[in-house]
Amino acid sequence: MKREYPETPLIGVGAIIVEAQRVVLVKRGHPPLAGEWSIPGGVLEVGETLREAAVREALEETGLAVEPADLLGVYDRILHDDEGRTHYHYVLIDFRCRRVGGDLKAASDADEARWFTAQEVAQLALAEDTAEVIRLGFERAGCLLTPNQGTRGQPMVFMREAELMDTEAAGVVRSRVLPDTHPYHYELNIGKPDTLNLVAVENGVVVGFVSVLLKKWNANGDHLWQRLAPYLAFIGVLPGKQHCGIGTSLFCSAIEMTAQLCPAGSSLFLEHRPENTAAGLYARSGFRTMAKDEVLALTGLQPKGSVMCLSLQPPCSFST
Ligand SMILES: CC(C)(COP(=O)(O)OP(=O)(O)OC[C@H]1O[C@@H](n2cnc3c(N)ncnc32)[C@H](O)[C@@H]1OP(=O)(O)O)[C@@H](O)C(=O)NCCC(=O)NCCS
Repeated sequence: MKREYPETPLIGVGAIIVEAQRVVLVKRGHPPLAGEWSIPGGVLEVGETLREAAVREALEETGLAVEPADLLGVYDRILHDDEGRTHYHYVLIDFRCRRVGGDLKAASDADEARWFTAQEVAQLALAEDTAEVIRLGFERAGCLLTPNQGTRGQPMVFMREAELMDTEAAGVVRSRVLPDTHPYHYELNIGKPDTLNLVAVENGVVVGFVSVLLKKWNANGDHLWQRLAPYLAFIGVLPGKQHCGIGTSLFCSAIEMTAQLCPAGSSLFLEHRPENTAAGLYARSGFRTMAKDEVLALTGLQPKGSVMCLSLQPPCSFST
């Protein structure tokens, strides 16, 4: 197959492999992108489906066994020589992929392969559509929050797992959105086993925080949150940063990551009190309100507020 000055456009398939807030990029050994970081992928072979090509190329170039998830986009890659002739012409079709096995190691025509965070990707000089499809891959995997649509020059909000150093800042979010009398300091969940804690960060500042209890805290406890799992304990966004999509993205990320961390068939629970301003998020994400009898049968406790649950089937999708 003639890659330079082709007689017809070639079909290229890319694998956007996202895991733990990082994406795999490879440094190419040959033109047209020699020496540059790019999405693992290659040319579709005769008799192969697009998804089969994504799986094959990912394995060949990165050593990772992947499973294609959603189609992220279709792009033109047409490069001309100095005389204006078409030197390369690809139609690029990119899939978000999940790793199902293998360890990262460069192979085939990739000289190097490594995991990049979204912040690191932002430092690379990538073609605009490459950067866009990687951003989309992060977003679909629930890793990147783009309340400002991520367009150039606008600040971007990133989501990452909270670390101990975020405890104070997450506490500020909690204290700004819940009354002083609220009994729980959810930020203290950060660093505890069997919890999922995510922060939304804008320009280095924590602007949102979500905390999920992944296992039953105490099956005989007095509170529903101790007897239901996984359980969404808290979500909050700083008042000045609300209503621009951060809560929705943080919530969607928490649902998707909880689904990955909990056994298949799990349901995510939460209690909905009148002071809770997240009712819209819950409704749009498909949570259903459980009957009081159902809660009693499941937990042995009478609910004080409204209990909602969502059957976890990643990826989560919102109707807007
Ligand atoms: C609930 C909470 C986390 C939502 O965070 P958020 O960042 O404002 O969430 P979003 O911006 O994604 O969505 C909020 C609303 O803004 C709307 N919105 C989103 N982007 C928007 C935009 N660009 N312009 C205008 N509105 C927008 C959404 O449609 C949504 O509407 P809804 O309230 O009808 O659902 C936040 O309100 C909060 O911290 N509340 C206090 C804490 C709390 O009660 N937590 C739950 C119990 S622990």
